[in-house]
Amino acid sequence: MADNKKIILTGDRPTGKLHIGHYVGSLKRRVELQNSGLYDKTFVFIADAQALTDNIDNPEKVRQNVIEVALDYLACGLDPTKSTIFIQSQIPELCELSFYYMDLVTVSRLQRNPTVKTEIQMRNFEASIPVGFFTYPISQAADITAFKATTVPAGEDQEPMIEQAREIVRRFNHIYGETLVEPEILLPTNAVCLRLPGTDGKAKMSKSLGNCIYLSDPADVVEKKVKSMYTDPTHIKVSDPGKLEGNTVFTYLDAFSRPDHFERYLPEYPNLDELKAHYTRGGLGDMKVKKFLAAIMQEELGPIRERRKEFEKDIPAVYEMLRKGCEVARETASATLDEVRRAMKINYFDDAELIAEQAKRFSQE
Ligand code: TRP
Repeated sequence: MADNKKIILTGDRPTGKLHIGHYVGSLKRRVELQNSGLYDKTFVFIADAQALTDNIDNPEKVRQNVIEVALDYLACGLDPTKSTIFIQSQIPELCELSFYYMDLVTVSRLQRNPTVKTEIQMRNFEASIPVGFFTYPISQAADITAFKATTVPAGEDQEPMIEQAREIVRRFNHIYGETLVEPEILLPTNAVCLRLPGTDGKAKMSKSLGNCIYLSDPADVVEKKVKSMYTDPTHIKVSDPGKLEGNTVFTYLDAFSRPDHFERYLPEYPNLDELKAHYTRGGLGDMKVKKFLAAIMQEELGPIRERRKEFEKDIPAVYEMLRKGCEVARETASATLDEVRRAMKINYFDDAELIAEQAKRFSQE
């Protein structure tokens, strides 16, 4: 039955290392939530089965990135003593739950999911969409509800998934009685963090576009990526007035800069507004702004990089942490599945009353 626990659940597809878009969009927040003491439980998982839905011929890629993502998690401060970190494919209950949910969702409802629509276009799937890919919002609903998650910290692109999950929960509870919990999405509070653009100014940071700054990038790579970032192509001479719109360096400053950064690295400006005003007026060169951004990025990413190196020294321990996480996660999912089977009247063998009732019915005939 639903109780009043506050439970966080979120995850990532292991199709690459995590980048700063993941970081500002969700990862940083999760760590804060994990440490806030406001939640009864935190589950974070690596969605390898979901990654396989469009990488079925590339299992090695998914396998390699499971450990990369686990290291990124630990590096960012997810703490296995506070959060349950696990791997999706190791929880068979999620498949079972997805199978039942499939009957609660129509094909046309799935076709209307805007995130899936865009992804299908991006992958040029057209008529060859794998069924598993098409239905991944259903399996995502299982991921969330198997743990009775109340709160899903995620980026804007996950909104249609959460909405779909909520619909499934409502339909399930309506037919079978109150069993599942409706989740809510927790979006980043800073609007610019909803979707951080790539270093080339393109709308999304994506591995295939080669425009990502990875959490595990070495310092010199971060430096180089920041220095070659897209700014305002009409801002040629330092004296030229510059545009802020679509200027990636300023977008990143919106996402990352704090007043204390100015005190430390750029004391001649009291805040970001003043820096922006000077840039717009003219007389402020791109390189100076990029140097400032690079300093901020190094400050933010340096400790993450260092922690990652520490965890890399004992990879078997990281796998062991994941194995334990899977064990704990399975217990929770399995308890939910017991309730689901009971609600759906498919719990034949643990229901003495049912067996007695049937025996009586047949003895009367
Ligand atoms: N679809 C998410 C992504 O692409 C990953 C994911 C799978 C997820 N299941 C989830 C996120 C459940 C939040 C909750 O990043």
